Amino acid sequence: MGIKILAIESSCDETAAAVVEDGRNVLSNTIYSQIDLHTIYGGVVPEIASRKHVEKINQVIKHALAEAGTGLQDIDAVAVTYGPGLVGALLVGVSAAKSLAYAAGKPLVGVNHIEGHISANYIEHSELEPPFMCMVASGGHSHLVLVKDYNEYEIIGRTRDDAAGEAFDKVARAIGLGYPGGPKVDKLAKEGNPEAISFPRAHVDEAPYDFSFSGLKSAVLNYLNGCDMKRIEYNRADVAASFQQAVVDVLVANSVNAAKDHGVKKLALAGGVASNSRLRECMKAAAESAGLEFYYPSPILCTDNAAMIGVAGYYAYMAGERSPLSLNAMPNLKIGER
Ligand code: KG4
Ligand code: ZN
Repeated sequence: MGIKILAIESSCDETAAAVVEDGRNVLSNTIYSQIDLHTIYGGVVPEIASRKHVEKINQVIKHALAEAGTGLQDIDAVAVTYGPGLVGALLVGVSAAKSLAYAAGKPLVGVNHIEGHISANYIEHSELEPPFMCMVASGGHSHLVLVKDYNEYEIIGRTRDDAAGEAFDKVARAIGLGYPGGPKVDKLAKEGNPEAISFPRAHVDEAPYDFSFSGLKSAVLNYLNGCDMKRIEYNRADVAASFQQAVVDVLVANSVNAAKDHGVKKLALAGGVASNSRLRECMKAAAESAGLEFYYPSPILCTDNAAMIGVAGYYAYMAGERSPLSLNAMPNLKIGER
C-alpha cells in the first residue's frame, strides 16, 4: 500500500482535486475549469472565481476520491495550495482541506503553487530527480528555479515586470484573440512567419537570467498602432508568430545558460506557458545541442491542476512537513518559503 495524498487546488480559475500515490502515480485528476465564465470579461474576475470555487469544490473533491476508488479513510494526508494566488480563491481550497483533514483526522500539508507546477514534471518522467533547472512560466509568474532537491529551491532568475503568460494574454487581446490568449496565439502563430517583424529581445545586463516582457508588449502595441495610423492592414498571424518567437528566444537563452552555468545536466519546463508548442520545440533543440536532458509535462499538467499539488505535497509530507489547522491563504507566498 502506497502513500496516498488527496490534493486540492483553487488558486486562480480552476477548481481541482486529485489523488496521487507515492508522489508519482496519479490515481485521479479532476479539473473544473472556469475559463468560459471569465472569457466574457477578458480575464479572471476574482470575486466570480471565489464564488464558483465555493459552488464546485465539494463536487470536485468527491469526484476525485471516487475516480481513485478511495475513501477519506484511505488517504494519508490532505495537501492544498495555500499560495501564491488570489486570496479569496485560495481560501476556498484551504478551508475545504482544513475541514477534511480535521474531520478525517489526517495531516494537512500546505503546498506552494509554483513548487506544484515544477513537480508536475515528476508525474510522467519516473526517472527525473533533482537537481535540475526549471523554467516556470505561467499567467502570474515567470521564474528560473534551480531545484536542488525535493523541497529545496533557489530562484536564479525572474521577470522584472510582466509574466510570460500575461504578455501572451495582453498581445492576444490587442490582436483581437480574446482570453486566455496563450493557446490562441500558439495556434495562430503556426500560420505566421516568426521573422516577419523584428520585436526586441530584452536582456537585463546586471542579471543575466532575469527577463522583461513589458518592452516587447509595448513594441507590439506600437507596431499595431503604427499600422492603424498608416491604414495598413497587419497580418495577425505574423504578429502572433513574431511576438511568440521573441518570448521564446529569451526564455530559451536564459534557461540553457542558467543550466550550463550552474552545472546541472537537466532542464525542465513548467506552468501554463510550458504547453506552448514553439517554446517546447525551440527549448528541446537548444537543450539537445547543449547536451542537456529536457523534460516537460503534458499540456493538461502544465496548466493549473491538483495532481501537481499532490506530487509536491507527497515530497513535503515525506520530509515531515505538516501545516497547522490555522493554515491561512498566502497570496504572495514565495518559492521555498514555509
Ligand atoms: O499556470 P497557469 O494555468 O495559471 C497560472 O498559475 O497563472 O497559466 C496560465 C497562463 C495564461 O497566461 C495562458 O495564456 C498561458 O498560461 N498559456 C499559454 C499556452 N497555454 C496556456 N501561453 C502560451 N502558449 C500556450 N499554448
Ligand atoms: Zn498556475
